[in-house]
Amino acid sequence: MSLSTKHLLGIKDLKTSDIELIFKTADNFKEILKRPIKKVPTLRDTTIVNLFYENSTRTRISFELAEKRLGADTINFSASGSSVSKGETLIDTAKNILSMKVDMVVMRHSASGAPHFLANHIDAAIINAGDGTNEHPTQGLLDAYSIREKHGTLRGKKIAILGDIMHSRVALSNIYCLKKLGAEVTVAGPPTLIPKHIDSLGVHVTYDIKEALNWCDVANILRIQLERQNMPLFSSLREYSLFYGVNKQLLDSLQKEITIMHPGPINRGVELSSDAADSHHSIILNQVENGVAIRMAVLYLLAGKKELE
Ligand code: CP
Repeated sequence: MSLSTKHLLGIKDLKTSDIELIFKTADNFKEILKRPIKKVPTLRDTTIVNLFYENSTRTRISFELAEKRLGADTINFSASGSSVSKGETLIDTAKNILSMKVDMVVMRHSASGAPHFLANHIDAAIINAGDGTNEHPTQGLLDAYSIREKHGTLRGKKIAILGDIMHSRVALSNIYCLKKLGAEVTVAGPPTLIPKHIDSLGVHVTYDIKEALNWCDVANILRIQLERQNMPLFSSLREYSLFYGVNKQLLDSLQKEITIMHPGPINRGVELSSDAADSHHSIILNQVENGVAIRMAVLYLLAGKKELE
């Protein structure tokens, strides 16, 4: 069994069978991660560069840990402190690193499409770790995997994605992944933060957070991406929090118990209060834990290794 793709650039291009294979492989790696010895030597002859042109905590550490658990050699590149500040291009940087016999590239970039551009110019397998406002495929996979773990299946489940849909690569990867796995999806937030034609992706749209919360089984709450907004799209963070923020009182007022998620980093007190983020509703840290198994699965499958020990 292998993936239908050489790279993981987005969930849009994945087949449902690819997602199912990644989940099945991640199930095996989750078992391995429970063992006293959490390492397997399946990628021991593989060298991977983590090419990060934009800040990250979870994704970067998760990929590095996944690579180390698989026995790969890893190199970490940050644009800050590199020769990018001297004008070196993305292609030159990548080609120079790859000339040192690197096999795979994990890449985060603030420009949408940067990993797709690189994939047209180099031979190595590329994994998109987040490109601008486009996609964050491993986040979409680990989110769907975490819902499957909590609720048994995605098919027929009602998932609300709340907040800054317009600037969120997590929103798009979630929508593609959840729809391919048979979930119903609603997006909710201020009208200025919801793209005009998003219903063409087969999602429902509401501007009423409480309506979305009362409808859903799971709410994935997204951060306001102020760094990607070059003009004000709502009046103030305080007002955003009052009208669109999720807190424990709001969760307790719903007609049913729901699961809440957040890809991180959380702006506590803006889109999500601490009493909700840290409540029994939350699977936020399970998402982070599952990220390692999902990334191990993606790396393993793209490396084309046959045996899982
Ligand atoms: N979820 C996520 O992408 O977090 P980081 O930006 O910290 O990697």
